[in-house]
Amino acid sequence: MPILDGQPFTVAIIGGGIAGLSLALRLPETSRVALLTKGQLGESNTRYAQGGLSVALARDDNPELHFQDTMAAGAGLCDAEAVRILVEHGPEAARWLMQQGVQFDRAQPDSDAHVTPDGLLLGREGAHSRWRVLHAGGDATGYEIERALMTAVRARSSITVFEETFVEELLLEDGKCVGLRASDRDGQTLTLRAEATVLASGGAGGLWLHTSNPSGATADGLALAWRAGAALVDLEFMQFHPTVLVVNGISHLISEAVRGEGAYLRNHAGERFMPRYSSQEELAPRDVVARAILKEMLLEGTQHQFLDLRHLPAEQMHARFPTISAFCRENGLDLARDLLPIAPAAHYCMGGVLVDTSGRTSVPALYAVGEVSCTGVHGANRLASNSLLEGLVYGLRAADALASNNGHESATVMSSLRASSTLQMAPHLDVQSLGPVDDLSYAQVRTELRQLMWEHVSLSRDHDGLRVAQRRVRELQAMLVNILDGEATRAWRETQNMLQAAELVIVAALQRDESRGSHWRLDYPTIDEKLDYHHFAWQAVGK
Ligand code: SIN
Repeated sequence: MPILDGQPFTVAIIGGGIAGLSLALRLPETSRVALLTKGQLGESNTRYAQGGLSVALARDDNPELHFQDTMAAGAGLCDAEAVRILVEHGPEAARWLMQQGVQFDRAQPDSDAHVTPDGLLLGREGAHSRWRVLHAGGDATGYEIERALMTAVRARSSITVFEETFVEELLLEDGKCVGLRASDRDGQTLTLRAEATVLASGGAGGLWLHTSNPSGATADGLALAWRAGAALVDLEFMQFHPTVLVVNGISHLISEAVRGEGAYLRNHAGERFMPRYSSQEELAPRDVVARAILKEMLLEGTQHQFLDLRHLPAEQMHARFPTISAFCRENGLDLARDLLPIAPAAHYCMGGVLVDTSGRTSVPALYAVGEVSCTGVHGANRLASNSLLEGLVYGLRAADALASNNGHESATVMSSLRASSTLQMAPHLDVQSLGPVDDLSYAQVRTELRQLMWEHVSLSRDHDGLRVAQRRVRELQAMLVNILDGEATRAWRETQNMLQAAELVIVAALQRDESRGSHWRLDYPTIDEKLDYHHFAWQAVGK
């Protein structure tokens, strides 16, 4: 296996979703770029995004309205400057994406659908005051974006793609990130030096038993950043998507755009219950809808509620949502004629590696973009379809900063960004071997972790449950250390990353004694206004 310790790469990018691919393509062709993905290129959370890309392009829309909707959904925690950048750069970033070959859906000439002035179809999603969401293939937006960007990346000779290459550690010299150590599909070690390294490794949905995310969402980037000493922030805010189809033991996302087209939520008594919870009904912010569904489930003692499209034109619904329709059909359901069993599931990590508006982390020469980062645009609750937009806008910005930056200084995030951030040193994250423990395989450790997170660190939490989870996570960490026999495998390291990230999420959830956005504490059921615009950031002890 080659040890790539010759001429360093200009930039090493870890992850191949919309953020990593956009960043790679925006860099000048004179840059030597390495792009590493732990699976096949294209196998990322982006690929499964259905709803689309929210951009203020309609005649009755503008970035100011998009700004207001994003800030309102974020429940007093969005960073206003970061949101401004997001919404104002959205239109030009969407055009850039189309120049790369992305084909968004267009209206037929005589259609009365909601469109942009140049004929792009727009969808509607929760807490958006306008029709604003560009989509492709109906409900296959992420797939189309990945297809186009991957094609462009493969055609670029300055980008070397390393597939099935798992990053084990970031390399630091004098506190600066100088590259990474990874293992390839045969388990061979590869050392790669780079002038700058970018985390674009996506999310953490895999920490929970029920998730809309693919199995690779194991929080690797959070754990890598943590071990490198980067500051992490807002980790208590995990978004649960309200409508994940639960059928035959499988979970499958049903886009919020389905409610945007008029679908209802019903309980087992057949009642359309959302009007009891919000004047925005089915299109309330995601945290409100997810909690309402959970409340109905708890009241009824049921495992799901229903999504109902039976009052909508069937043919039109099948055409608008072909992917969801096909999945329903494969599982014996008709999207338009059956009540669809749905439940909330872990979907999107709003916290992440603390970055400034150019993607710089607190570690020199280490950048982060997309879901693994926290720019502050989502606050306590992300507005639907702002995630692809964030990956795109901030991926492009980070590329521009990288192209113009020769020193790769660290972000001034600690002093200037989020003036009210409180930096915490996480209390106890080093795990000692406990001596003999239960003989669990790493796969059993992983399963138990996911159940534990689902039970105690989900849509609703309280101090006692979080403490139970914290204790058990530490035991599981010790077990994992004990079962290591020889060299750590990729699966073992992934599990280690999951446990590390889980402990951080729990510590953060224990710290925030209030209910806000996606963080709902049963023992502190109201918002604490003193914590408006107050973030908890975390950095490893001794880093
Ligand atoms: C959806 O289509 O509902 C998911 C898109 C998103 O999470 O923004």
